[in-house]
Amino acid sequence: MSLFRLFLRALPERIVAKQLKKPSGLLGLAFGRMMSKGNAGINELVLDGLDLTLRDHVLEVGFGHGALIEDIAKQVPNGQIFGLDYSKTMVKQAISRNRRSIKQGRVRLVTGDISRLPYEDQTMTKIATVNTLYFWPDVTKGMSELARIAKPGARLVIGIRDKTEMDQIPFTKHEFTTISVDDVKKLLTQHGWINIRSEYSDVDMMGSYAVIGERPE
Ligand SMILES: C[S@@+](CC[C@H](N)C(=O)[O-])C[C@H]1O[C@@H](n2cnc3c(N)ncnc32)[C@H](O)[C@@H]1O
Repeated sequence: MSLFRLFLRALPERIVAKQLKKPSGLLGLAFGRMMSKGNAGINELVLDGLDLTLRDHVLEVGFGHGALIEDIAKQVPNGQIFGLDYSKTMVKQAISRNRRSIKQGRVRLVTGDISRLPYEDQTMTKIATVNTLYFWPDVTKGMSELARIAKPGARLVIGIRDKTEMDQIPFTKHEFTTISVDDVKKLLTQHGWINIRSEYSDVDMMGSYAVIGERPE
């Protein structure tokens, strides 16, 4: 059994759910470190799905530990990488991990909520979010925000674990709103994304999907 899974079993369900939703304090820092390992597979799947180019303008919402931001920065040397997370603890951890590219002015990480993104209309060419949709306070508002900031032709990749598997985990009855991959695809269609498809990976402790959509040109 992985260290992450042992860690999740050792703590009360409500605390685990709260920390996954919004990591805070010293325990939050430990959750961040565990997630960077336990969610490595789904983050890699999303990275592949982004199909990055050297000059992309990329946003990740809910970056947590910041490992995906670090991987994106390696592939986008001449672009801009933006990240937003509403946990101050995670912003601190991700800033520490990405110190060098932040200093170079290529990466900007801020505290904020998916429901109100501090970016201009049609500014991002690639958008990613991994393991966050279960926690959005208002899914319609969040999806509208992502559509607003996407450039024509932009790509959105949502990393998610399917409702069927998530509902078997005891702590997801607290704080989480689980969702099926089919319903994520419907949400994308409703918000104007096209060419919607999904990729699957089973390298983490449970099955992971990257749901991909594009803006019309
Ligand atoms: C389960 S963690 C996932 C971290 C990382 N993306 C991963 O897959 O390993 C969820 C992250 O999303 C952030 N988050 C949750 N809801 C959010 C919201 N409404 N706005 C911004 N960030 C949010 C949390 O603070 C946390 O860092």
